[in-house]
Amino acid sequence: MMSVLKGKKVLLGITGGIAAYKTAYLVRLFIKAGADVKVVMTPAAKEFITPLTLSTLSKNEVFSSFTDEEDENAKWNNHVELGLWADFLLIAPATANTLSKMAAGNSDNFLLATYLSAKCPVFFAPAMDLDMYRHPSTKNSLHTLAGFGNIVIPPGSGELASGLYGEGRMAEPEEIIEFIEDYFSKNLPLKGKNFLITAGPTYEAIDPVRFIGNHSSGKMGYELAEAAARLGARVHLISGPTHLSTENPNIILVRVTSTHEMYEAVHSNFKAADVCIAAAAVADYKPKTVAGEKIKKSDQTLNIELTKTEDILASLGAEKKDQILIGFALETNNEVENARNKLKRKNLDFIVLNSLRDKGAGFKSDTNKVSIIYPDSQKDFDLKTKEEVAKDILKEIIDLLNA
Ligand code: CTP
Repeated sequence: MMSVLKGKKVLLGITGGIAAYKTAYLVRLFIKAGADVKVVMTPAAKEFITPLTLSTLSKNEVFSSFTDEEDENAKWNNHVELGLWADFLLIAPATANTLSKMAAGNSDNFLLATYLSAKCPVFFAPAMDLDMYRHPSTKNSLHTLAGFGNIVIPPGSGELASGLYGEGRMAEPEEIIEFIEDYFSKNLPLKGKNFLITAGPTYEAIDPVRFIGNHSSGKMGYELAEAAARLGARVHLISGPTHLSTENPNIILVRVTSTHEMYEAVHSNFKAADVCIAAAAVADYKPKTVAGEKIKKSDQTLNIELTKTEDILASLGAEKKDQILIGFALETNNEVENARNKLKRKNLDFIVLNSLRDKGAGFKSDTNKVSIIYPDSQKDFDLKTKEEVAKDILKEIIDLLNA
């Protein structure tokens, strides 16, 4: 099962407590989950575990001071940049001393300065002796930090380094990981939402061996499905023939071939959907009759009579109740006007316009340049990878869901 920590930028702050020895394993667990880890240590933490251990495991430089003391040409380590880089800051172990300094706004070491400049969520895992943990001063620090929005990962009970038994032992690395995973999966913006997405081309049979199709790769639809699932959605992905597949457990992939099959698969999932995105390049016409046997070449010319396929998206627009419905348009002239007409005709919330005039945009490429057209406004985006375009589109959808 893929971890929500995959791709997350983790800033781990280590302070000077005996539990610091456990952070080597903690870094390993973050790396195994697919996160990118940078470590900041207080000077006292280096008494308990070496920076070399942590830089080897994290595959990144370890920071512990504003400059590198052993290098006279040392550069200034930028705590603001590190704070902005991180998706979250985790301080583990967090000693009573560091907690009190965090609460007071003290910045007499690099970790504290980084903490003060970080804008991301901050977790901390207290680790100290029983009586220190119980002291009203420590309780005050915890209370103040909670008021800042910082999140405590509660310590466990057990044997402490002092030989005493009680509360104050740092949560185990596995528990810390589980706590943070839980936090991020509960707070995903599309948690509990059902998405229905179409992707790829459709093929219309001419005879048992031939078909009418198009060059759509399906990439845009698959990227949308992955991005929605990463943000917590459950996705039904109805895909025409493509070479793509997905491993994501939150995506149910339904493979179809013809427009009619896509129509059926989409309609059987539409009622339960909160959001539906039609990214498929559906065939507009199909042969009026499909030959039962392979058509022989005999005459100089061959006419195949075509008839319209179902317009899947328009049929959804006619049926829609509370669903957010989104389509794509590919236009070569009067682009915005045509797209907006399509938006109205198909009863959409917005339509994503691909312009064929833009180099690098379109069918088979990995990049796309789109405009998002609303009934009364539009947003133009730069040329980006389809993965990034998917994120832009989902951001608009999240705004609509929260509106
Ligand atoms: N669409 C669909 N079913 C069809 C045709 C299109 O669901 N039979 C969806 C596509 O997935 C896309 C949008 O409708 O989201 C595209 O609209 P369409 O009317 O096909 O526009 P174009 O393909 O741009 O063609 P035209 O301008 O000729 O209508």
